[in-house]
Amino acid sequence: MTQDELKKAVARAAVAHVVEGEIVGVGTGSTANCFIDELALIRHRIRGAVASSEATRRRLEEHGITVFDLNDVDQIPLYVDGADEINEAMQMIKGGGGALTREKIVAAVSRKFVCIVDRSKLVPVLGRFPLPVEVIPMALGHVQRELACLGGIPLLRTGFVTDNGNLIVDLHGLQIVDAVGLETRINQIVGIVTSGLFACRPADVCLLGTATGVQTLTAV
Ligand code: 5RP
Repeated sequence: MTQDELKKAVARAAVAHVVEGEIVGVGTGSTANCFIDELALIRHRIRGAVASSEATRRRLEEHGITVFDLNDVDQIPLYVDGADEINEAMQMIKGGGGALTREKIVAAVSRKFVCIVDRSKLVPVLGRFPLPVEVIPMALGHVQRELACLGGIPLLRTGFVTDNGNLIVDLHGLQIVDAVGLETRINQIVGIVTSGLFACRPADVCLLGTATGVQTLTAV
């Protein structure tokens, strides 16, 4: 199976978690795009969706799916998104596509987070994928100095502006053993909007695409 086929397989499997007549929170990225394609096939069975990025909003609307503003929604039973890395505790690094802040917000409002990834994303220790951090532009220098104190190498993602008008710094070279501790520490740095470390609110379920089929994982 190719990586694309694995992404399509986990996206298809995620449809089983959709709650009839309700709103679905939808992530960002190539795997989330596969999920949007699947969601379009059952769009008459859902009320609509909340998007975690402008790109996702556009794709949902192109597929005829009603997109709600998060502030017009009381609760979201399900959030489906990809990840750059996930460990066995269902903690993730996200934000390779730069949508981490809106992804974290929609995930926070959602009762169940289903992470859809291919086998290559499951890692014993998070950190080989550089940790994205969204930064208010005027705080860039301060934030880079503070992040360097955490032991990693902070590099500005050049030529990239988030949907919120901010910058992304990618923190390279980490080995994240205490993910909740690191997320909490990064949250204290003034000028950071959020980090792509999803440890305080991990996924509830991971649908893992493998050569032998889709495996369902929960936290160990
Ligand atoms: C975007 C994300 C994505 O979920 C993550 O980058 C995975 O993307 P893909 O499914 O394309 O591998 O966090 O901000």
